[in-house]
Amino acid sequence: MKWLITGAGGMVASDLRNALAARGEDFLPLTRSDLDITDSRAVTTAVVDAQPSIIVNCAGYTRVDDAESNERLANAINGSSVELLAEAANAAEALLVHISTDFVFDGRSQRPYDINDRTGPLSVYGRSKLLGEHAASHARKHVIVRTSWLFGTSGPNFVEAIRGQIQKGTNPLRVVNDQRGRPTYTSHLADAIIRIANLDARGMIHYADEPECTWYDFARAIVEELGSDIAVKPVSTEDFTRPATRPAYSVLSTERYERLTGVRPESWREGLREYLENRG
Ligand SMILES: NC(=O)c1ccc[n+]([C@@H]2O[C@H](COP(=O)([O-])OP(=O)(O)OC[C@H]3O[C@@H](n4cnc5c(N)ncnc54)[C@H](OP(=O)(O)O)[C@@H]3O)[C@@H](O)[C@H]2O)c1
Repeated sequence: MKWLITGAGGMVASDLRNALAARGEDFLPLTRSDLDITDSRAVTTAVVDAQPSIIVNCAGYTRVDDAESNERLANAINGSSVELLAEAANAAEALLVHISTDFVFDGRSQRPYDINDRTGPLSVYGRSKLLGEHAASHARKHVIVRTSWLFGTSGPNFVEAIRGQIQKGTNPLRVVNDQRGRPTYTSHLADAIIRIANLDARGMIHYADEPECTWYDFARAIVEELGSDIAVKPVSTEDFTRPATRPAYSVLSTERYERLTGVRPESWREGLREYLENRG
C-alpha cells in the first residue's frame, strides 16, 4: 500500500508521517512547495507519477479568522482543490482521505453531532471546509474524517498560546467558558486515520479525543500540567470579539468510529502530557 500525503509540512501531516514511518509504510510526503494542490496539472502529474493507493489530504487553509477576508483563497484551497484530488484519486483508483472540521456545524445542538446531522457553518472557513467535504465525496473511494480543536508538536496551537501568555506574565488568564468541544492530539488523530484507512471504511467518520470540555477547562488542564500557579478566569465569547464566529457547541459524536474500529478515542489529557514531554 502506498500513501501520498498533501500539505505534508503541516501539523497533522507531520504526525501522520511519523506514524507511517514507525509502521514501516511506504509513503510520499508532498509539502506545499512540492505540490500546490490548487494547481490542477501538478496534482494530476503527482498522482499519476506516484500511483498511490491512499491519498491523505492534509493541506488546507487553516487560518480561521484570516479566512473572513480571504474567502476566495480559502474556497480554492479547502474547496475546489479537493475536487482536483478527487478526480486524481478516481483516475488512480485510490482512496481519498480528507480531513474536515467541527466548524461545519452551527453549534446549536444539545447533543454531540452525529455524522448525518445537518451542517450550518458560521464562518468563511467553515463554509470552505463544507465545500471540501462535497468535493471529497466525488471520489469513488473516499473517507472524510471530521475532527476538532487540534494540538500537535508541529504547529502553533492553543497549548502554545496559553504557554505564551504565562511567559508574558499575563495574570489572570481569561479563557472562554461557553464554547464546548473535544480537544484532539494530532498524534492520536494520525493513528485514527491509519486505522480508518486500513479498515476500508467509506464515507463520513468523526474522530476526536475524549472527553468534551470548554476552552476554559482545557486551559486549566494546560496550566496544571505546566505546573503554573497562574489564575484562570472563565469569560464569555462576547468578551472576545474575533473576525470569525465559532460554534458554541461543536462536540463531535465518535460513535461510528468506535463501532467500526472497536476502539475508544484516546484521552486528550494523556495527549497533552505526551505533547509537553515531546515539545518540552
Ligand atoms: N487545527 C485545527 O484545530 C483543526 C481542526 C479541525 C480540522 N482541521 C483540519 O485538519 C487539516 C490539517 O490541519 P493542520 O492543523 O495540520 O493545518 P496546518 O498545520 O496549517 O497544515 C496545513 C498545511 O497545508 C499547506 N497548504 C496550504 N495551502 C496549500 C496548497 N495550496 N497546496 C498544498 N499545501 C498547502 C500549508 O502550507 P503553508 O504552511 O506553507 O501554508 C500547511 O503545511 C486541515 O484540513 C484543517 O482544516 C484542523
